[in-house]
Amino acid sequence: MVVTRPARARDYARLLEWVPDAPALYLFAGPSVTWPPTVAQFEEISRRPGLSAWMVAHDEYPAAWGHFDLTVGGASARLGRVIVDPRYRGQGLGHVLTRAVIEKARELGVDEVRLAVVADNEPAVRAYRRAGFTEFVDPERPQFTAMTYRLLERP
Ligand SMILES: CC(C)(COP(=O)(O)OP(=O)(O)OC[C@H]1O[C@@H](n2cnc3c(N)ncnc32)[C@H](O)[C@@H]1OP(=O)(O)O)[C@@H](O)C(=O)NCCC(=O)NCCS
Repeated sequence: MVVTRPARARDYARLLEWVPDAPALYLFAGPSVTWPPTVAQFEEISRRPGLSAWMVAHDEYPAAWGHFDLTVGGASARLGRVIVDPRYRGQGLGHVLTRAVIEKARELGVDEVRLAVVADNEPAVRAYRRAGFTEFVDPERPQFTAMTYRLLERP
């Protein structure tokens, strides 16, 4: 069973081991965190208005293997800081995590989830597409692929 629980400071201490260098940090967190990443930077992000940060775990894995956060503003939430433990990438967990994102957004009561992903981050774009996110044009941020998921469209 997939479990989504609030992220805590000690999760970030472990999560930082998943980020080997500045390019990997940028894929994960964009410009929101600067190299070298620290737990304090993530704690500061977690205090942003409307933001909730989550760890994703699964019976078959010894510890939580994924992280994301959602920032609610009005009827929409912005997805950020998505990562899967590098030991387990390429096994479909990106897809599992994206489904957990949608469930959490539903619990938070929003109509839409938006995100911006570095344009050539193929595993991320593919995982989002597979979960039902669609691309839209954001002319202000051409270096990112903007994507949206409408929760109201569930059958
Ligand atoms: C992006 C990320 C969360 C995806 O997690 P994952 O467990 O590797 O993803 P999955 O195994 O579910 O694979 C997702 C898709 O990417 C594809 N994929 C996996 N590894 C790939 C690679 N190295 N190159 C290209 N495509 C790849 C898979 O085939 C799958 O596509 P499909 O659904 O069309 O078959 C993970 O790679 C990660 O943590 N990356 C570093 C941080 C990051 O980039 N975060 C995104 C911020 S927006």
